[in-house]
Amino acid sequence: MLRFFGVSAIVLCFAASSLCADAPGAAIYKAKCASCHGADGAGKTPAGKTMKVRDLCSTDVQKLTDAELTKVISDGKGKMPAYAKKLSADQIKSLVEMIRTMAKK
Ligand code: HEC
Repeated sequence: MLRFFGVSAIVLCFAASSLCADAPGAAIYKAKCASCHGADGAGKTPAGKTMKVRDLCSTDVQKLTDAELTKVISDGKGKMPAYAKKLSADQIKSLVEMIRTMAKK
């Protein structure tokens, strides 16, 4: 029984970390995006509130297609800076995947 709990705890930790902390886009997001969009994507930072960023977890943002999200991150929109020159296409793709993991369950 003890052994069973030990093993399932390890499996749970592994599953949780591969979903969140270790997602490839997570480090880039934290470094480049969280100042405006907030660590959780809700945009509740001073900068995010001033610029009225939308909650990345909301259905309004989640209903955008991957291509639309990629375009906003690459080319910018309003006060949203363009990242096409700062990030590779792969990095932008991993950010789109990261935003998908933020969808409200
Ligand atoms: C300087 C503040 C700032 C930073 C840094 C920033 N954003 Fe934004 N972002 C904005 C603003 C403001 C908008 C809203 C643009 C609009 O609708 O006019 C936005 C919009 C978006 C949208 C579209 C959602 C919508 O409301 O339509 C996505 C996706 C997004 N940002 C992702 C990112 C990602 C990924 C990064 C990091 C690479 C990032 N942002 C960095 C300010 C920022």
